[in-house]
Parts: sequence; structure tokens; C-alpha cells
Amino acid sequence: MANTTTAPAPAPALGFPEKLMPIGGTWVPAASGDTIVVSNPATEKAIAETPAGTVQDGLAALDAACQAQDSWAATPPRVRADLLDAAYRAILERRNEFAALITAEMGKTLTEAQAEVDYGAGFFRWFAEAANRLHLEGQYGIEPGGQYRLAVSKRPVGPALLITPWNFPLAMGARKIAPALAAGCTTVLKPAELTPLTSLLLAKVLEEVGVPAGVVNVITTDNSREVIGAIMADPRVRKISFTGSTQVGKALLTQAAENVMNTSMELGGNAPLIVFDDADLDQAVEGAMVAKLRNGGQSCVAANRIYLQSGIAAEFLQRFTERMTATRVGDGAVHGVELGALVDEKQAAKVASLVEDAVSKGATCLTGGTRPGGIGYYYPPTVLTDIPENADIREEEIFGPVAAVYEFKTEEDVVRAANGTPYGLASYVFTKDLARALRVADAIDAGMTGINRGVVSNPAAPFGGTKASGLGREGGTEGLEAYLETKYTGIEL
Ligand code: SIN
Repeated sequence: MANTTTAPAPAPALGFPEKLMPIGGTWVPAASGDTIVVSNPATEKAIAETPAGTVQDGLAALDAACQAQDSWAATPPRVRADLLDAAYRAILERRNEFAALITAEMGKTLTEAQAEVDYGAGFFRWFAEAANRLHLEGQYGIEPGGQYRLAVSKRPVGPALLITPWNFPLAMGARKIAPALAAGCTTVLKPAELTPLTSLLLAKVLEEVGVPAGVVNVITTDNSREVIGAIMADPRVRKISFTGSTQVGKALLTQAAENVMNTSMELGGNAPLIVFDDADLDQAVEGAMVAKLRNGGQSCVAANRIYLQSGIAAEFLQRFTERMTATRVGDGAVHGVELGALVDEKQAAKVASLVEDAVSKGATCLTGGTRPGGIGYYYPPTVLTDIPENADIREEEIFGPVAAVYEFKTEEDVVRAANGTPYGLASYVFTKDLARALRVADAIDAGMTGINRGVVSNPAAPFGGTKASGLGREGGTEGLEAYLETKYTGIEL
């Protein structure tokens, strides 16, 4: 493979007991005794085994969360904040250990994994600060008629089921666990089957810093549908927070309706990245590289459609294609590699088939476009132009290092194209004209817009989408709100 660096990945330290998961403060095997093998996508070799949790295990995790709920909710916010702050520090102290595990089970480069550790740890710091301010959330006053008093306060919504994807094995768990704990909710975390190891290490670290038994329970399983179905059928679960595909999100919303459960859904995206003629091209090429290749393109905020205004299209394409071609691909654990393996065979095959479909229908491939043979689920950085109307890549979330590039003439045209999708998660605009930047950001129906930057993710910012991209926000002040209920008391003196 061109630009490929290969060397064996070092075996990562697990940092938690293998084949066990934490339920109610004890590390236990699956009730069936069965395990799931977790493999490294760069080497296709097994790294470790985790329990193949059953419905019985899922319900045991829920029991543990329910038992711990009242005492955790009664724990003073400052004590909860101190624990979250301790978690923040402990994760950073073990930055290399976390990063090695993320790379080994997910495939991203060590540099990106370290960035994910910082990002993930940041949620614990952010929500530690928020927990300290929880007492400010209430109100007290006299009702407008002057007859009696109103008191409004916040309380935890209750035990929460957290379901995380494989693409950010630490950050997605952190983004859900930290606000849940800050709010006073106990949790059952169900990590993705492909990448459960980082979640287990996170649970171990939380245990070590003193988070009480039963507050964070983890169920690893290869039978997600039944285990999640059983947990959600139990009316004691009051919250579900899910990050994953829109298709699964819709099914979970239907299930959540049964018990009128509080829901947060962070679902699929189809992010447009727009470069206007007046953009700073260095900044735009850099932003597009990050928005496209961060996490190997396996992110719901990845630039899925790159729109170039006619005046800069040729120059941008030349510079961007050179950068894509020069990207070093290989085992993410190897120093200097810039793009690691995709998460599994299914993902690599899906990306390859989207490219083959587009090219067979007439698209031009400027670089990449051929899946290498050999070990590991690699796909090269690829740039496609002249993409015909009937190509699947126009509509689908690529989730890989493939840039689908389109040309546009006017602002009006590009806004219409950007909004012409059922999704509305992230979007990116590159222009030096501030008025245009803000006008276009306002006109794009998406939860997030990056202006002259290719990354919007930040623990302090509300992450989430409109339309089929989901409901609710994670991070920011909204992220805590998602785990709180409002309680109003009318007081006659
Ligand atoms: C995601 O892809 O689901 C999350 C990406 C991020 O938090 O930056």
C-alpha cells in the first residue's frame, strides 16, 4: 500500500480484570460464562475477551443502578463534583494507557487516541464544575396573582441507560457518564461490541477514584437487541442516551415511548463543508483535512459533502488531493502514521462499495479508491469528483476517509444543497466574509456549524443535531439538563 508504515502493534495493558464486567461494585463474568473476543483492526489479532452479557446480566446491572440511585442522588453535589474532578485527573494520568487501548481496539492513530483521551477527560472536568453549580439551577418566587409561593428545583431524572458507539470508545462514554453522575443519576453503560475495553478501563478508574458501587455498571454483550430490550422494558429506567445510527435510534425511541422515558439521541449526520471563493485556502484545506480524516472519517460530524465555489475549486482540489495522497496509512500504534485502519471488515467493505458504486456510475477518482490487500481493514484517503445524481454516496453517511467533492456557483445554491438531506448534525463554512459566514450558518439547518474550522467538538459546547440527526444535546449546559427533571412546589403560607 502506498504511504504505508507497518510494524507490529504493541499489546496493550488492559488495566481491569479480563472477561469480567463491573455490576454493583463487583467484577463478574457473564451469567452464561460466554465471552466475546475483541480484535485489533490493524492486525486482525485478538486483544482480549469480555463477557458476552445476557438479559439476566443486563437486568442485574439495572438492579444495581436502581439500588444505588437514592443514595447517589442524596450525595451532595460538591462530593459528586470532587469525584468527577478526581476522574478527570486520573484519566489524564493514564493518558498513554487509555490511548493504547483505544488504538488497539478501534484502529485510530495514537495521536488521535491521545486527543480523544483529552477530549473525554474534559467532560469529567466540565461536569465537575457544573455539579458544583447545581444549587443555582432553582428558582423561588411569588406567583403572579400574589397568592402563594413557587419553588422550582432540579432533581436527577433517575437510573440511566447509556449506549455508546465504537468510534470514540472513551469520549462517548465520558460525554454520557459525567453529566449523569453530576446530576445524581446512576448508570448502566452498554458499550459497542467492537470496542468495550476502553469503557471497562474507564469503569475501573471511576471505581478507583471512589465512585460508589452500583453508580456505574457496565454490560458488555454481543446480544445488544435483547439485552437493551429487556432493560428498556423495565419502568425503573428513566433515561436512555444513545449515540449511533438513525435507524437504531428510531427503534429505541419507539421502545422508549412504552415507558415514556426521557431520551437523548445523537444520531447520523451528512455534514456539508462549504468553501467560498474568498476563503483563506490554507485554512480551508487544513479544515477539510481534519473534518474528513479525523477518526479516519468514522465520525457522525465528518465532512460528508465538500462544496467548493467555482473560483477556488481547481486550486483547492489540487492542494487537498496532494495532502490526501501524502497521508501515511498504517497501524495506528506506529509512530508517524496519520491514518489507521477502519474499525472492521464490514466498515472497510462498505466504504469500498460506496466508492465503487460512484465510480461505476461516472465519478472521477483523483486519489485512492482501491482497497489494499493484506492484513488490516485499511482504506486509502480518496477524493471523488463529478459524482452523478444517482450515486449512493450522495445520500449515505460515508464513515471513511473518502471525500465526496461538489462544485457550486452561488450562496443560495449551496445553502439549498446543504439542507437537502434528512440530517442536520454538523456543518462547516469557510469564508473571510463574517457577514456571509453568519448568514450561511444561520441558514443551514444543523445543530452545529464550524466557521473556518474543521472541528466543533468541545465538552463546553452543546453537541447534537436537528431533523434525523437526533434529539437533545450533550456537553455544554444542555448536557447536564438532559439528566435533570424539573420539580415545582406551590407553597401556601
Ligand atoms: C461522533 O462521531 O459521534 C462524535 C464525534 C465527536 O464527539 O466529535
